[in-house]
Amino acid sequence: MENFIFQNPTKLIFGKGMIANLAKEIPQDKRVLVTFGGGSVKTNGVYEQVKTALQGFEVVEFWGIESNPSVETLQKAIALGKENKVDFLLAVGGGSVIDGTKLIAAGILYDGDAWDLVLKGQAIDTLPLAAVLTLPATGSEMNAGAVISRKETVEKFAFFSKNPVFSILDPSTTFTLPKYQVACGIADTYIHVMEQYMTTPNQSKLMDRWAEGILQTLVEIAPSITKDTENYALMSEFMLSATMGLNGFIAMGVRQDWATHMIGHELTALHGITHGGTLVIVMPGLLRTLKTKKTAKLLQYGERVWGITAGSDEERADQAIEKTESFFRSLGLATRLGEVGVGDETIVEIERRFNKRKVGFGEDGDITGTVSRQILENCK
Ligand code: NZQ
Ligand code: ZN
Repeated sequence: MENFIFQNPTKLIFGKGMIANLAKEIPQDKRVLVTFGGGSVKTNGVYEQVKTALQGFEVVEFWGIESNPSVETLQKAIALGKENKVDFLLAVGGGSVIDGTKLIAAGILYDGDAWDLVLKGQAIDTLPLAAVLTLPATGSEMNAGAVISRKETVEKFAFFSKNPVFSILDPSTTFTLPKYQVACGIADTYIHVMEQYMTTPNQSKLMDRWAEGILQTLVEIAPSITKDTENYALMSEFMLSATMGLNGFIAMGVRQDWATHMIGHELTALHGITHGGTLVIVMPGLLRTLKTKKTAKLLQYGERVWGITAGSDEERADQAIEKTESFFRSLGLATRLGEVGVGDETIVEIERRFNKRKVGFGEDGDITGTVSRQILENCK
């Protein structure tokens, strides 16, 4: 294991009816900016529960944080927060609302353009924020990351800020999710785990088992959950899996990849494809490209997650990649670039952007623009 420092300060509050706890968790003297997406919270009772819980608080509402939140929208929320002198933020929604609110929390304390903070990659001074999660996927409810887009330049970058002080996860709030969002959420969670697991073998037995445990849980529940999105027990498993997939618990002392995400962000920026939908295309292509290097881990993964034990090393590695892609297809998602209308110009543009930024992704920092191009060629 490599050296590490681990601290996750987010208090998790889980279960039916727990939104009422907001009143206990937010200090009474706070002026709260509550942020929302496009309105799904009005169809599932979440808005009413939040409003009831916050009776007696000074509250300002900001609506309209879109999927893949844009700095252009968030600048409006920052102005509203400054104008009202808010000193606490509550994000109510999916990963986009929580991510966007992380930038708002930093932007209110910053005099310049909030995009500077994104480009810097880190925001240190922030107002406290908390979350009510309605879409299991990103892990944003229990991590410090956020991914922000800029419409003007068609860019999408990650930056790091602070964790929510607490997050409320009530699985029944997810019952109104469209099936496509459930599929993308399962895929996103699965690939978060893979980004931290499908790297160098023999780093930590414990991290491997935890990661495999999340992957196996997702494989087990996916067939039922994609049909029956109102099953509380299954949604609970899914919601907790998504949080555990990206809150640092499976990343202790191990190296991480994240190339699939970085390439996926470009596909979203350039084509507007949903985050999880980009990942299920890129990851099988990445595994096909880096199969030789990743063989040892692919064999372990194939055996422990998919029960693949027969055949030569190469055949078993191939089967593990095929199983992964067919799992994504079983969720109803497209796994090839041609199916989502992405052609060669985009591949060339992503290579150009990465070369210009001199990137080196992956656990060894060797996924350059040129390697990314090969990966995308293998996603056709
Ligand atoms: O905007 P509303 O009306 O709320 O509708 C949303 C949105 O249209 C809807 N939705 C959310 N909860 C619902 C619901 N509809 C019905 N019932 C509910 N209970 O779902 C749509 C998608 O929401 P969004 O928040 O965009 O999805 P997700 O949670 O997948 O977030 C995606 C964003 O997170 C970033 C992605 O890049 C993307 O920008 N990520 C953030 C990460 C992090 N902070 O650590 C890591 C991830 O890898 C990811 O990159
Ligand atoms: Zn993701």
